[in-house]
Amino acid sequence: MGHAETGLLWRTWGLYPRVMIATMIAEESFIDFKCPHCGEPVSFPRDCIGFARECPTCLECLVVPVGDAQVGRKLPLPITTARLVLRRLGGGDWKDLLELLADEELFRYTDGRPLEEEEVLNWLQSDSHVKLTSPGQPFYLGIQARDGGKLIGYLSLHFADPQRLQAGLNICLNRNCQRKGFALEAVRALLEFCFDGIRLHRVTALCDSRNAAACRLFEGAGLRREGELVKDKFFNGEWASTVCYAALQEEYREAAANSPAPAP
Ligand SMILES: CC(C)(COP(=O)(O)OP(=O)(O)OC[C@H]1O[C@@H](n2cnc3c(N)ncnc32)[C@H](O)[C@@H]1OP(=O)(O)O)[C@@H](O)C(=O)NCCC(=O)NCCS
Repeated sequence: MGHAETGLLWRTWGLYPRVMIATMIAEESFIDFKCPHCGEPVSFPRDCIGFARECPTCLECLVVPVGDAQVGRKLPLPITTARLVLRRLGGGDWKDLLELLADEELFRYTDGRPLEEEEVLNWLQSDSHVKLTSPGQPFYLGIQARDGGKLIGYLSLHFADPQRLQAGLNICLNRNCQRKGFALEAVRALLEFCFDGIRLHRVTALCDSRNAAACRLFEGAGLRREGELVKDKFFNGEWASTVCYAALQEEYREAAANSPAPAP
């Protein structure tokens, strides 16, 4: 229904039952399309365009399409970069994850402790039920090297708001693969997924102020240093400070527009 018709309805509204007018106008603010997974019709408010949402029929994640597309989009996963594939974790990753997570050094500046085999297996088991839209659950993506296929780390997104438009990111990389630019490559690709793929409003990252690798990483990926929580946590016998990084969708787009075009 176009705006002209809506106006006509208002002008002649005495001819229609009040409930019917409200319904017809409300329908204008919804977009109807088919789920890309099960093919069933779905309807979402227009202000959800571009966001990841759950199909009410098959419960899979879809991206609400832009314009007059008849079918929604699937999540743009896995993500392939020059040297990496970012993909959901699977049961077969347990050995590589155990190698990563058994390393005490990984937890030098972060909460947590090395994991044992059974804990890694349990984690993978519970993660297999998690979707991007699962409330209160971090969404993990494994970082796999294209060369050799080894899982060298993981990223996670933690959604803080009920609309799921703001996420905190976390990353861990196998010590043997650090300082080769893999983390930067993975975080850049994740930001593209967050801002272009599912149109998040804001992405944040927190790290210990002594964690030079994480600070350089987040700054290199274009996140803005937003502030520092001074001595906000008691960690390994001393008070440590947390640095907060963030990027808004508009900042990301502006930076992308101003960055030089890739070489042909
Ligand atoms: C943080 C982490 C993911 C960085 O991984 P990485 O593979 O070494 O990162 P990259 O090679 O992509 O380097 C990113 C930047 O950090 C710098 N960097 C990496 N390790 C560093 C270190 N130990 N000291 C100082 N700078 C370091 C790199 O030089 C690079 O900066 P540059 O582009 O200005 O040269 C890795 O150290 C890690 O897994 N740490 C444990 C978990 C953690 O702390 N996660 C962050 C909190 S969410």
